[in-house]
Amino acid sequence: MSVTEIPAPLLEVRDLAVDLPVGKGHRPVITDVSFSLRAGESLGLVGESGSGKSMTVRSALRLLPAGSRVAGSIRWEGEDVYAMSRSRLRSWHASEVGFIHQDPRAHINPLRTIGDFLTEGLRASGVGRRESVEKAEALLERVGITEPRTRMRQYPHELSGGLLQRVMIASVLLVEPKLIIADEPTTALDVTIQESVMAILDDLRRHEGVSLVMITHDLDLAAAVTDRIAVVYAGQLVEEGASGSIHTEGLHPYSVGLLESRPSTTRRQRLRAIPGRPVAAFEAPPGCVFVDRCAHAVDTCREERPSLRPVQRQLVACHRAEDLQAPVVLAAGGAL
Ligand SMILES: Nc1ncnc2c1ncn2[C@@H]1O[C@H](COP(=O)(O)OP(=O)(O)OP(=O)(O)O)[C@@H](O)[C@H]1O
Ligand SMILES: [Mg+2]
Repeated sequence: MSVTEIPAPLLEVRDLAVDLPVGKGHRPVITDVSFSLRAGESLGLVGESGSGKSMTVRSALRLLPAGSRVAGSIRWEGEDVYAMSRSRLRSWHASEVGFIHQDPRAHINPLRTIGDFLTEGLRASGVGRRESVEKAEALLERVGITEPRTRMRQYPHELSGGLLQRVMIASVLLVEPKLIIADEPTTALDVTIQESVMAILDDLRRHEGVSLVMITHDLDLAAAVTDRIAVVYAGQLVEEGASGSIHTEGLHPYSVGLLESRPSTTRRQRLRAIPGRPVAAFEAPPGCVFVDRCAHAVDTCREERPSLRPVQRQLVACHRAEDLQAPVVLAAGGAL
């Protein structure tokens, strides 16, 4: 490779728009999402319920319901995901990307043992029974499951939610993927288990160079474990940038609202909930998607949909981003 040749991003999503079939028609769920992820990087997709986080990654993995309409482009190491043959798509899912689902219980067959669930992929790809079992047991230990031999013989209903989520992580690690997509991997778990699951993912990323896309509604959590954050609202990406910048100097009023509405041990201000309710892409107003909940909206915001553009160190879809950054800087310097 010559010095001027830059490798293609691992995953590149450009101008994604998705309409899902609903009744006899279609309904938009994603209207404008673009991001790219290089090998070894991690990205947090953050937003409230219904904003389109899961649909974004399902679109990227070509896992949408039949009849969905997809516009824009999704590329994996430069390869067009939507031009992959069925067999290429199957091998991509089986060996290069690992998807940790929001609800592990819904994605692990309740009638088969944990051992069968974990080893079936390896056995299908020609690995012998004994080797598959040894590999699966070693991975269960690695994700903190003691007595893996006993667990392998158990059925999903015999395991708690936390253990089952670890089993799902182990199943993803078995294939040694280049990218792990974790869809709210800890939402259903209690706090101590949340921490240990996040530590496993963080360890993989830091020590093994696995790339990570993590979906969460928790901006603090995303900032702690990812390099960059993309904030999604009503099917649109409204802000993107380095995690540290978004976490402390978010520019979009929605990002700022997410942060202020989060309980914190370091901030002493009263919690401020974002007024109004989140809207889905199909019910978003014609101008800025956030206009009805925004304290800073002006006429332009009602008339024109802002697109992502560079402001300071971020990309922001807000007409007023420059006007709004001044008070934030003054407040940080204590001059207000
Ligand atoms: N199969 C489906 N058919 C039609 N609409 C759907 C379907 N699945 C999701 N939607 C809609 O798509 C929008 C985005 O949903 P998505 O599941 O991506 O949200 P999310 O950000 O992942 O939310 P959550 O945090 O609750 O998981 C929502 O308005 C949802 O109602
Ligand atoms: Mg979701």
